[in-house]
Amino acid sequence: MTKPTDYSFTRYLAAKKSVDDRALNRHVGESLRQALRPTTMETPLQVLEIGAGIGTMIERTLDWNLLIHATYTAIDAESDNIAEARRRLPDWGNKEGFAVTDDEQRIRLQREGQEVTVILEAIDLFDFMTRERGQRTWDLLIAHAFVDLVDVPATLPRLLFLLRPGGLLYFTIVFDGVTILQPDINPAFDAHIERLYHQTMDERLVNGRPSGDSQSGRHLFQHLQAAGVKLLDAGSSDWVVFPGPQGYPADEAYFLHFIIHTMHTALTGYPDLDEDRFNHWIARRHAQIEQGSLVFIVHQLDFLGRKPPPGNRGSR
Ligand SMILES: C[S@@+](CC[C@H](N)C(=O)[O-])C[C@H]1O[C@@H](n2cnc3c(N)ncnc32)[C@H](O)[C@@H]1O
Repeated sequence: MTKPTDYSFTRYLAAKKSVDDRALNRHVGESLRQALRPTTMETPLQVLEIGAGIGTMIERTLDWNLLIHATYTAIDAESDNIAEARRRLPDWGNKEGFAVTDDEQRIRLQREGQEVTVILEAIDLFDFMTRERGQRTWDLLIAHAFVDLVDVPATLPRLLFLLRPGGLLYFTIVFDGVTILQPDINPAFDAHIERLYHQTMDERLVNGRPSGDSQSGRHLFQHLQAAGVKLLDAGSSDWVVFPGPQGYPADEAYFLHFIIHTMHTALTGYPDLDEDRFNHWIARRHAQIEQGSLVFIVHQLDFLGRKPPPGNRGSR
């Protein structure tokens, strides 16, 4: 695939789906299946997903038959993402053999004893937490490729107010400080770029507040414990993107071009980086994708935790 001339975040999220499908830790996923309470039509599981993007995790949890009877609330700050989720979910459901009912408020998917109602909302997480605290709670909180974007010690206690006692949290694809691009161009310069790129994550500010941590994965163990969450399972969920006999699968060449473009945007004009040399490096990485030679590996972790019942805070 030749280097794109423009970039779309919603296409990137769609292209990321097959990469995430391979990466997600199956052991942690199976632990989630075991930990979920039984459900019926009358007592559906209440699921909340934050930073849900275009809704690929909704599709995945249905695909995996993790959710049998559920009401799934999915929020994202970007209205374009929610609009795309609203567009693609009914199409996806129809293709997968669901009967789909779609009105302004909710999308209902029904198939052979499975019934899931999806409520999509474009809203910032912090506004949502303020609005919902004390109003209602959920059984399962999902955050997929999201936790590394927020200040976890400040945000996690507020998130826990949205979970019922004994409720589960499933935090997946949490970035953990390693980005590998192969083949090497110049090992010292490659390592320098990786270091600076991670530094941009550590320095990220949203509304003037620190937001993000390039080692979120390894730090989450302590953050969960400090917040009183009981850790049920954890495991790695590394992205490994490589060209197979037919080149990159699905839309993964686009995914790679988007990542290189993101690195370019993040580091353009950055101190300590020779601009011409960096632009040349970026062009070489795009060329490696066009030639089908780039291998991309990112270290990430998945977590399953439980909010203890009252009086049990911090027990393990
Ligand atoms: C890396 S994307 C992951 C999206 C989706 N979970 C996926 O993996 O396909 C992070 C998402 O979080 C959303 N986001 C970032 N900050 C947010 C906030 N404060 N409140 C709600 N959503 C937010 C972004 O709009 C984006 O869609």
